[in-house]
Order: sequence, then C-alpha cells, then structure tokens
Amino acid sequence: MKPCTAIDEISALPARRLRADDSAAVADMFLRMSEQSRLRRFHSVKPYIGEQELALLLDADHTKCEAVAAMDDDGRIIAVAQYAEMGDPHTAQIAVVVVDEHQRRGIGRALVGAIMRCARTNGYDRLFVKTLLDNDAAMALFGEFGFQPYGDEDGVVELRLFG
Ligand SMILES: CC(C)(COP(=O)(O)OP(=O)(O)OC[C@H]1O[C@@H](n2cnc3c(N)ncnc32)[C@H](O)[C@@H]1OP(=O)(O)O)[C@@H](O)C(=O)NCCC(=O)NCCS
Repeated sequence: MKPCTAIDEISALPARRLRADDSAAVADMFLRMSEQSRLRRFHSVKPYIGEQELALLLDADHTKCEAVAAMDDDGRIIAVAQYAEMGDPHTAQIAVVVVDEHQRRGIGRALVGAIMRCARTNGYDRLFVKTLLDNDAAMALFGEFGFQPYGDEDGVVELRLFG
C-alpha cells in the first residue's frame, strides 16, 4: 500500500479514515440523513444502511477501497466519502454524502478532493461517480473537479474523470 497523505491533509476539517468499530456511528449518520439524501446517495430509499454498504465503508483495505469521514464538534460522523475499485486496477467508483444540516459548507468538496487524491495515489486514474439525473448538487460538485457526464440509464448518469 502506498502512503495516502491526502487524508491527513484535509485542512481545517476533523476527518479520518473509517474503522471497523465505526459501524454504529455510520448507521447513526444514515438515520440523520433526509430521505432525499439517502435516495441521492444510494439511488433507493432505505430505512437503514445495509450490511453490504457498511462493509464497503468499514472493511476498506486502503488500496482497492478506502473511506474517510468528517466529524462534528461532538465527534459524530457528518460526512463520508469513499472509493472502490471497479473492474480493473485503474478504475474506481467514488461516492460521497454529507448529512443535510452540514451541507453547503464545503465539506463535500474537501472529502471528495481527499478521496480523489487517495485513489490516484493508489493508481486509479479513471474515476467515475453515478448520480441521479436531477442531482444538481452532485453534478456541480463533481463538475468542479472536471468530471463529465457520460451517458445515463434509468435516471442515473455516470460522471467520469479519466486521466
Ligand atoms: C452532493 C453533496 C455531497 C455535496 O456536499 P456539500 O458539502 O453540500 O457540498 P459543498 O458545500 O462542498 O459544495 C461544493 C460545491 O458543490 C456545488 N453544490 C453543492 N450543493 C449544491 C446544491 N444544493 N445545489 C447546487 N450546487 C451545489 C456548489 O458548486 C458548491 O460550491 P459553492 O457552495 O461554493 O457554490 C451533498 O449535497 C449530499 O450529500 N447529497 C446527498 C448524497 C449525494 O447526492 N451524493 C452524490 C452521489 S454519490
């Protein structure tokens, strides 16, 4: 595993890698998200986060997948960004969510920047995100980083940044 200093450089934001013992804190964050944010993150409305999604966040091997979280002043998790290898060792999918009450404060931008740097450090130079077509926030956020829409299916658009 190559060192991934980006995660330790998220300026002015209490943030760290997720760990196996964050299970309850992540589940709690999920419950504090609005239905719309859950829908936008997972493309389906779930009453609680599933075991598969939790495993991807908590069992990161720090190379093929990684997950970072931002905390509030009380140490509660308020945002998560992750990447996971998809298909080949140069391609990774990114996802991010910020709890509603902390949105539009630059946290999504900071975490996405960190997880992108981390993915690239580990050799992933083809990054993509899947987002609902009407998700203006995600379109704008990833657009800032240079992601471009690549085609959509069933209301979900893939945004890509290759190279
Ligand atoms: C998308 C999301 C992660 C953005 O996080 P955030 O912390 O609110 O975003 P930031 O404050 O870092 O915003 C960065 C930029 O993104 C754009 N943006 C963010 N929210 C926006 C909104 N509601 N409408 C339009 N543009 C928006 C803006 O360009 C913003 O820059 P600005 O505030 O200087 O104008 C957040 O809205 C969210 O968690 N949504 C639900 C989950 C989701 O949609 N995930 C993406 C698919 S995986």
